[in-house]
Amino acid sequence: MATINENYLKLQAGYLFPEIGRRVSEFIAANPDKKVIKMGIGDVTQPLVPTVIKAFHEGVDEMAKADSFKGYGPEQGYGFLREAIAEHSYKARGIDISPDDIFISDGSKCDTGNIQEIFGNENKIGICDPVYPVYADTTVMSGKTGVCQLNGYYEGVIYMPCTEENGFIPELPTEIPDLIFLCYPNNPTGTVATKEELKKWVDYAKANKSIILYDAAYEAFIQDEEIPHSIYEIEGAKSVAIEFRSFSKTAGFTGTRCAYTVIPDELLAYDSEGNTHKVKKLWNRRHSTKFNGVSYPVQKAAAAIYTEEGRKENEEVIAYYMENARIMGKSLKDAGYKVFGGKNAPYIWVKTKNGMKSWDFFDKLLNEANVVGTPGSGFGPSGEGYFRFSAFADRENVLEAMERIKNLK
Ligand code: MLT
Repeated sequence: MATINENYLKLQAGYLFPEIGRRVSEFIAANPDKKVIKMGIGDVTQPLVPTVIKAFHEGVDEMAKADSFKGYGPEQGYGFLREAIAEHSYKARGIDISPDDIFISDGSKCDTGNIQEIFGNENKIGICDPVYPVYADTTVMSGKTGVCQLNGYYEGVIYMPCTEENGFIPELPTEIPDLIFLCYPNNPTGTVATKEELKKWVDYAKANKSIILYDAAYEAFIQDEEIPHSIYEIEGAKSVAIEFRSFSKTAGFTGTRCAYTVIPDELLAYDSEGNTHKVKKLWNRRHSTKFNGVSYPVQKAAAAIYTEEGRKENEEVIAYYMENARIMGKSLKDAGYKVFGGKNAPYIWVKTKNGMKSWDFFDKLLNEANVVGTPGSGFGPSGEGYFRFSAFADRENVLEAMERIKNLK
């Protein structure tokens, strides 16, 4: 008799974004004459930049000739891409990361979920609330939690509320998590962490032998000079943190798929007898067993981001999205909403008016303005009464959506 992984039965509702997609499709089917503007899921709209496309084409052409054709690539990723990352994403900011500590993958979503597999189920997980739902859902799937309680929290998880009162920055929890998910610039609130803030977490993790799972997927959107792009900018972080980064939002690869995870050689975790083990070795074992690498043309395209032209072109795209965020922040404020984020992140976090519930605001916005956003409560109980707008739409659509929201009754 085949049995199921019953942890899946603990999950509440479907995954957030398909659920939004389902409601929007229903609305469009019932209202085919309406032009719906999507600012829900953080999916890019601008094409890959010319330098990246050129490298992508070259990669494909190489696959067409016997003397340059490539079969399986190295599971950990091609050396040329890992070296470019170490040089430009880290060394250029004074951080020493070896290409050997970098694992190329097809997404940070997959990596932040899959990483749980190499850690024991007795680990207590610390999760911000609200949070990118993948961390919470995959914690449940992996069997590290009990059931979902009436307050929306899963038993056994250490939740770290991020509220207006604490500036959407979590406090160090009194019950100590073994694994701590942090995401900066933050999805969904758009807040950032200063060096002092991150140092607090690194010191806490060191003191408690915890590991920080640091999602830096939005680092390229940071505008303020003093905000750290990597947790490894904090001294000592290499012995307590794994960093996830992605080309999805930073270079328009949501459909192309390429990301990377950094696991420093010195990062250790313990077995049940207290012996230490290199986390990187375990991840390498997992990665090389379950993953066959990202395709060669995609990795070649990703490496082109680090050329001078590629970098300049990409910076222009990021500036375009951040100008969207600026316009949205201002328009929503002018329309009487309390607005957070959007200054160093492509997400605007808005408080609904008169305490309206997040999903009610979603329905109102969809029905009356034909604009799609993401209900804050979908990111966790503390997101109730908030709403997230993504800044990745076309400018024309951003302007039209803001005009429609301004005219909402
Ligand atoms: C989001 O909208 O939060 C992201 O696009 C989801 C993702 O990156 O998987």
